Amino acid sequence: MMNDLTYFFNPRSIAVVGASYHEGKIGYRLVYNIVKGGYKGEIFPINPKAGEILGVRVYEHLNAVDAVPDVALIVVPAAQVPDAIEECGRKEVKFAVIISSGFSETGKSGAEKEIASCARGYGMRILGPNVFGIYSATVSLNATFGVTDIPPGDVAIITQSGALGLAMIGKTAVENMGLSAICSVGNKSDLNEADLLEYLMTQDETKVILMYIEGVKDGERLVEMLKEVTRRKPVIVIKSGRSRRGAIAAASHTGSLAGADNVFSDIMRQCGVLRAETIDEAFQWCSFISESPVPHGENTVIITNGGGVGVMAADACEKYEIPLYDDIAGLEKLFGPAIPPFGSFKNPIDLTGQASAINYAQALNAALESDTVNAVIAIICGTPDVSPEILAAMVKDVCGQFKKKEKLITFSLFGGLETEKCLSMLAKERVPAYGDVYRAVSSMGALYAYRRALAEAGESSCDAVIDVDAGAIDALVEQVRAGGRFFLLAHEAQEVMKAAGITVPRTEIAATLEDAVTRARAIGFPVVMKVVSRDIIHKSDAGGVILDIDNEKEVIDAYEAIMRNCRTKAPSAQIEGIEITEMVSEGIEIIAGARKDPSFGPVVMVGLGGIYVEVMKDVAFRAYPGERRQLLAMIKEIKSYPLLLGVRGAGRKDIEGLVEVIAKLGAIVSRCSGITDIEINPLVVYEKERGVKAVDVRILLSGDSK
Ligand code: COA
Repeated sequence: MMNDLTYFFNPRSIAVVGASYHEGKIGYRLVYNIVKGGYKGEIFPINPKAGEILGVRVYEHLNAVDAVPDVALIVVPAAQVPDAIEECGRKEVKFAVIISSGFSETGKSGAEKEIASCARGYGMRILGPNVFGIYSATVSLNATFGVTDIPPGDVAIITQSGALGLAMIGKTAVENMGLSAICSVGNKSDLNEADLLEYLMTQDETKVILMYIEGVKDGERLVEMLKEVTRRKPVIVIKSGRSRRGAIAAASHTGSLAGADNVFSDIMRQCGVLRAETIDEAFQWCSFISESPVPHGENTVIITNGGGVGVMAADACEKYEIPLYDDIAGLEKLFGPAIPPFGSFKNPIDLTGQASAINYAQALNAALESDTVNAVIAIICGTPDVSPEILAAMVKDVCGQFKKKEKLITFSLFGGLETEKCLSMLAKERVPAYGDVYRAVSSMGALYAYRRALAEAGESSCDAVIDVDAGAIDALVEQVRAGGRFFLLAHEAQEVMKAAGITVPRTEIAATLEDAVTRARAIGFPVVMKVVSRDIIHKSDAGGVILDIDNEKEVIDAYEAIMRNCRTKAPSAQIEGIEITEMVSEGIEIIAGARKDPSFGPVVMVGLGGIYVEVMKDVAFRAYPGERRQLLAMIKEIKSYPLLLGVRGAGRKDIEGLVEVIAKLGAIVSRCSGITDIEINPLVVYEKERGVKAVDVRILLSGDSK
């Protein structure tokens, strides 16, 4: 198979199988765009009528072409695609881009699989079916049926939606953003996002990659690839299907399983990918990031001539995690000379409405020349006495000076018609100037987020091997599954924990009343007693759980009460014994888990535990494997993290022990194929020397015989 996509993105020649003589047809539009777009290679339109289209010789069939095209665009009706692919394969075409629809997206998966397998047999790669084609700036190839003039540039787009992709091409021109490449992935019968990323990662012409995603298949490979790409260049992603209704719509649009949105978001963050909320935001980030240097630090100042907008900018900075430089003495020294009376040098630097152009220039210059300031958010409110042309020229000039010094700058210009005129002049020059202050700040926030991801990716970490007895766990799981049960009973789940080296409360199973007394005495009071029965799932509801048992007499009373309650509430349940467990002392109750996610494979999670997990929804996720420092980052993301650091005089908890448990859960799910889900709630986390304890463990098994 051809894994190198150089000739996919830079074909020396291209065939259009299904080139049409009729202007309204896609087969005509493709030839038109390729010719008018100034493609540098050879074009071979294929149509049984032969002749010429737009002055280019048309071949009766592919075999009539002397050369071997690097890429063949297939634009014949679905029924004719298999023959066309066979012909391309025989001709030794390297890549086929199947534009035709009517395959798995309409339920016809069989035909699509046959085509993919035929291509594989010839070592030919396929993009599609059901794509809009490809644009590649390096060879001036517009092999799409969208607009003809695509501005070349440094942003590459990979999209799961073809129609949206075509619309994005149109929008790039409006937003003055140039493209290095764009293609849709369609039904992904062969090439997918990860394959395309692998090439674009090394392509010098692409500075930023934008992806539109509805759902993820083969997420494990995508995650690995994204981690690699973001070390070299920023990736911005827009994912639809956030809401329940949106997810249903995505499923019927591209057959994508949207998956849990928070899992997607957290895993993208783990990969260093920036997730934009809207297409507008994504485009804005692409433009800003591709035009701006990555600053050396994050000391940011807001310079404004309007106090109110300055306050709004400060709010926006908090939202987008931009640290405002706040060394008062340093700020006064730097900006004091530029500030008129009544102004303020406490970041935001408020020059007030009285500020002259000279004051403003002086403040910007102070930031530019300073060794401590790395970035400026410059806000200009209504400037009636300066023409839009002059203002635009000034802003552009300042922007250039900041760039030269590898400092960040973004502008917010707020005012009437003249200001709007100025903004549109600046947009054409790709100067980051926006009407709304939040937009100005959001772009800078995205670049900082990328900068932090880069720094984190650069930190090397040498993790100790995760010690889990997978053999013992597999044997136990197989035994249970052989009995036709697909979840573990509490004592079996505890065995799994022990095999992984995760501490559980001391537990014994008693078969008789006397046995219960002896075992409780051996464990030490207080203890908890619980019924053991595969027929009673909700033990508390059946009166099968009694806490805080302090002595032998209470053991006898509890034993009798549990038996009586369960026989009344679940008369047909088979009772296998009574579990006696050490009563766990108080600590911070955490929920920790791991599961095989349908999109991403093994995923681990952590959150605030206890009975209100569903209400609090204070959870974070990571794809597994992740380094221990990434697991620590996940723990830090939950709102309850300060509880682990210790509040109101309490000491710091055993966070390292918690990281270790999560790593072990991930290892179990990825190494033991019979287990799909593990959830510990509560996992009680104590102060450092006292470790963690898995109190309640639920484990689900896979239903198939893998
Ligand atoms: N080899 C070469 N050319 C062939 C051919 C063959 N085996 N069989 C037919 N042709 C020619 C036809 O003669 C025709 O040319 P003409 O118009 O000059 O007569 C041309 O190929 C197109 O064939 P036609 O049967 O007219 O198809 P069409 O243009 O109506 O539709 C598709 C073809 C692929 C566009 C259509 O089937 C389709 O799938 N449309 C949806 C595309 C889409 O939306 N994709 C996803 C985008 S995100």
